Amino acid sequence: MLDENIKIIKTKDGSIGLYDENLDEIFHSIYGAKTEAFEKFIQPAKIIDNKPLKILDICYGIGYNTKCALENFKNISLIDCVEINKNLVLDSYKFNYRDDIDKIIKSNIEKNDLIHFYIDDIRKVVKNLNKKYDIIFHDGFAPHKQSELWSEELILSISKLLDKNGIYCTYNHSKPVLKALLNSGLFLGKILKDNKTIAICASFNKENILNPLNDYELGQLNTKSAITYKDPFLNFTHQKIIENREKEIKNSNLITLSHYKKFNPNQD
Ligand SMILES: C[S@@+](CC[C@H](N)C(=O)[O-])C[C@H]1O[C@@H](n2cnc3c(N)ncnc32)[C@H](O)[C@@H]1O
Repeated sequence: MLDENIKIIKTKDGSIGLYDENLDEIFHSIYGAKTEAFEKFIQPAKIIDNKPLKILDICYGIGYNTKCALENFKNISLIDCVEINKNLVLDSYKFNYRDDIDKIIKSNIEKNDLIHFYIDDIRKVVKNLNKKYDIIFHDGFAPHKQSELWSEELILSISKLLDKNGIYCTYNHSKPVLKALLNSGLFLGKILKDNKTIAICASFNKENILNPLNDYELGQLNTKSAITYKDPFLNFTHQKIIENREKEIKNSNLITLSHYKKFNPNQD
């Protein structure tokens, strides 16, 4: 059964979404939980649909990204899913995705076979994973609510699990996250919809990147606004991470984003 603070909402494509009352945060985009999984995670990952795929689904929730991967990739050899809330995982087959996929999820919750569930903090799990994945989904709540899911150190640890030809996908295109991905040695690409960035993909292989960040966008990552979240031992609280970042911004000699834009006008 879902925790009391987690409420069910209907999203615009008809699929069920969730809302966490304690965090005041939605799990899924209101324009469509299912659509979001496809557009921001599966479609970008399709670029490497050419071999038995190992997938890592970070922040599994009720599993839209895993379910959508099962629907779209016929050659999956393994999906490792990480989720801190056990009740979400246990209920995740109940949300009427597609009968055959709901059945696969249910049977794998009962007996891990194709899908393995790690019910714990990703910051602990990441230390014990030693595979290389072809596809990594990273779908944590937004940094202003859970900065610990987006620290430079966590992103570096996650990047070490990515195959050299693999692809990392996230909806989060905030500057500190882009900077942390860049600092991990990844090439970054924009996932566009109606000419707007809706998600990011990253890879060690430049050829996997269709819409790279341009020089103007890369330049923005050298401003204060892109200072990353720091969690050196992967155990700081959200509050501490935010406070430390604010101090770092205050003491930084980097220029501000507005200053940068003033000297690089008309490029947005
Ligand atoms: C935006 S929701 C993910 C939605 C999910 N991908 C889905 O399809 O339902 C974020 C998820 O991260 C989980 N989470 C929060 N902190 C976590 C942590 N430290 N480690 C792993 N999962 C965490 C939450 O319980 C929540 O399910």
